[in-house]
Amino acid sequence: MKLENTYREKAEYLKNLKRFVGVQSVGWKSPSNIALVKYWGKREVQLPQNPSMSFALRNSFSETLVNYSFNENLDIKVELLFENKRNEAFENRIKSYFEGIIDFIPFIKNLAFKIESSNSFPHSAGIASSASAMSALALCLVSIEREMFGTLYEEKTFFEKASFLSRLGSGSAARSVYENYSVWGQSAFVSESSDELAIAYNNNIHSEFLGLGDAILITSSKSKKVSSSMGHNLMIDHPYADSRYKQANENLEKLLKAIASNDEQTFVDVIENEALSLHALMMSSSNGYSLLNQNTWEIIQKIKKFRKENNTFAAFTLDAGPNVHLIYKLKDRNKIVEFIELVLTEHCENNKWIDDKMGHGPEKIV
Ligand code: PMV
Repeated sequence: MKLENTYREKAEYLKNLKRFVGVQSVGWKSPSNIALVKYWGKREVQLPQNPSMSFALRNSFSETLVNYSFNENLDIKVELLFENKRNEAFENRIKSYFEGIIDFIPFIKNLAFKIESSNSFPHSAGIASSASAMSALALCLVSIEREMFGTLYEEKTFFEKASFLSRLGSGSAARSVYENYSVWGQSAFVSESSDELAIAYNNNIHSEFLGLGDAILITSSKSKKVSSSMGHNLMIDHPYADSRYKQANENLEKLLKAIASNDEQTFVDVIENEALSLHALMMSSSNGYSLLNQNTWEIIQKIKKFRKENNTFAAFTLDAGPNVHLIYKLKDRNKIVEFIELVLTEHCENNKWIDDKMGHGPEKIV
């Protein structure tokens, strides 16, 4: 049976929330993640067309505090403060998110929510804020379920439902509820993988691939001219769609082997191929567009040159934007930071880069 149906059936039990007085609170800090094999193209309700793999970041996270009280009116009631300011655009997004997940977590209409959220990183910095923000919120909701109904007692079932609900908020958010690596989307190479939620991927990883740095080189902090959801939609009748989904499956298989065997060359080939393929798909869609700029290309060329000349593992990846993620091994950190400061920051907006690395996943803060 589809997981969605299982959650729907189990939710029968979650329909009658007992009245309570006063305001209760729960809070989660949840990381953003950087995809190595990209999710680009979806079907039905936020189901991916191909499996993707990412790792959680450590310093780029959202902190979300949910204050909730009993709501007599049985409607969706949300007030949202983002970075201490009421934000109606985000509030409306959360309201429609809540409408979409009500079948799985029906007691949300018995509650009035006052949500406070903030990010540790600047807006439009090439860091997926929807991944951290939606996963932090979903984690709060499953915590409320656990608190109020005594369900989701086991860690595994708790984080699975959190991932399932995160996915419905933003696809890539499904991968943010775990530490280190996670895989979202059914793959023959990852047991228990699913389109409906992400799973933690923690077997068969060479120790050097557990200590990765991610230097995020900001070439532009302007808002994107084409959103990710528009980009996903353009995959529906994209002429290269089928070959893209095949390529992503093959790349995932290669990447898993590379991570297990410390095969740096294959890792570099796969993640750079994924980054450029993502942007090539944007360029070759109908009404093609590019989110990259001159500095993106300068940085990419310089990373390749540095890798060759220094024989040091340094690879780039890109999210849906012009900022470059330089992935490196933490054992090479001094060399890499020197390279960034001397060679790359001249291509960054206000010489700015964000010093991040693989992280330990979400944390309950309240
Ligand atoms: O989760 P969305 O809908 O914002 O899509 C994210 C897509 C990429 O960030 C480009 C790739 C990925 O897998 O995270």
